[in-house]
Amino acid sequence: MATERTLSIIKPDATRRNLTGKINAKFEDAGLRIVAQKRIQLTKAQAGEFYKVHAERPFYDELCEFMASAPVVVQVLEGEGAIAKNREVMGATNPADAAEGTVRADFAESVGENSVHGSDAPDTAADEISFFFSGLELVG
Ligand code: CMP
Repeated sequence: MATERTLSIIKPDATRRNLTGKINAKFEDAGLRIVAQKRIQLTKAQAGEFYKVHAERPFYDELCEFMASAPVVVQVLEGEGAIAKNREVMGATNPADAAEGTVRADFAESVGENSVHGSDAPDTAADEISFFFSGLELVG
């Protein structure tokens, strides 16, 4: 399997509860390398732009409000099959369905406030990484 990069976001519910290190440990234990990382405060408009594919969903406004409600940690994770591996480590979107030991099973508060985001495919990973990081920030 090829080495890939994927975009990960540690969301406001998790940064508020000081869980960044515990979540990063799960990524690293699974063999994912954090090759870029920064803690930022999104505006609601920036969150809306990032999540624009969900603009027609009923939860879109709530999602954008939430993502702008506290700092987030945006990161690039690298590894063999990193996109699928990260989704495995995160667990299902709804924590009620997330497998034991996953980030969402251990930390998520609800389907909306679910602690982490991860890219779902190679094309979205490339777009999402370039949304937050310049090439100069990706040092490997
Ligand atoms: P994420 O993987 O970041 O992608 C889109 C996000 O929308 C998702 O995680 C959830 O945080 C949010 N989301 C998905 N379904 C719902 C829902 N039914 N209610 C509120 N938020 C949701």
